[in-house]
Amino acid sequence: RHQTTAGYDMVHYGHSNQLRQAKAMGDYLIVGVHTDGEISQHKGPPVFTQDERYKMVRAIKWVDEIVEGAPYVTTLETLDKYTSDFCVHGDDITLTVDGKDTYEEVKRSGRYRECKRTQGVSTTDLVGRMLLMTKTHHSNIGHSDYQQHTDNFGKVGPMSTLIQGPKGHSPWTGVSQFLQTSQKIIQFASGQEPQPGDTIIYVAGAFDLFHIGHVDFLEAVSRLSDKPYVIVGLHFDQEVNRYKGKNYPIMNVHERTLSVLACRYVSEVVIGAPYAVTRELLDHFKVDLVCHGKTEVHPDKDGSDPYAEPRKKGILHTVDSMNSLTTDSIVQRIIKNSFNDATVTSS
Ligand code: C5P
Repeated sequence: RHQTTAGYDMVHYGHSNQLRQAKAMGDYLIVGVHTDGEISQHKGPPVFTQDERYKMVRAIKWVDEIVEGAPYVTTLETLDKYTSDFCVHGDDITLTVDGKDTYEEVKRSGRYRECKRTQGVSTTDLVGRMLLMTKTHHSNIGHSDYQQHTDNFGKVGPMSTLIQGPKGHSPWTGVSQFLQTSQKIIQFASGQEPQPGDTIIYVAGAFDLFHIGHVDFLEAVSRLSDKPYVIVGLHFDQEVNRYKGKNYPIMNVHERTLSVLACRYVSEVVIGAPYAVTRELLDHFKVDLVCHGKTEVHPDKDGSDPYAEPRKKGILHTVDSMNSLTTDSIVQRIIKNSFNDATVTSS
């Protein structure tokens, strides 16, 4: 038994990768998550509430158990209380409000292990992307004047953003520093093939900034069967931008792939799914059910219904996630928080 502790405010695939590495160091991974009060005291108010943060961490497949309201400083007493042999943290230092290393005590007693930070993603970077809701997001032309960009928020049409960057990078992924590798996908993938008797459920979408609304949706979807095999079709960045507008997606398809694979309700991901759920796709994966949440279904480029085929076959289900959170509303929270001068916690 071992444990890792943090705020887990804006959970991204960097956190998931930390939990994956931590799990590999032992048998049973306990994750301590701080309360809102504790985070506010040391770092400023979090963007997500403690209940949202607890649920989000629970949905990550490498997590065996969570401790709600874990103390900010990890002491030997905390480790003993949860019968953890050691604790794990990334290779960066976390300080308390008075500048002390929060792992000082456990480090001294040799009950501390370190895992590697994931290159190319951090909360600070993601918040930066959200605040840069302008043409530079997808155009790859560097600007650093946040004020100018936020003034343009929402006023720049998606098609005017299709400018090829000066270095010839893809306009759709130029903003991300993350380098996808086959190794990372293998580490995150379930590796499970559908078994006889499984119900194969297909869902498609952007799943941008993978959040608790997505988790609630996928959990509800997986509850539709005793033996669910959930395949998530991820639309390419260009497709997402066509129907979501502004400068969406905030995370490119490589990043969204890892976020979705880290979720315990997901069995497989299609990286770059066709927007229309065609008969070929349904036959290829032997899909039994197609699900969509209560959110709007945007028409295809030619105005047609992307779910026409599963609707015709009578296998389209609307699933209520009972959660109204959207990527857009998260971006609004972040913008509000930054203008209130609050800090976004980065661990
Ligand atoms: O908007 P996006 O494409 O990321 O949504 C992916 C799927 O998650 C859709 O089926 C959508 O209806 C569902 N969803 C949901 N509840 C939310 C957010 C998304 O059911 N709060």
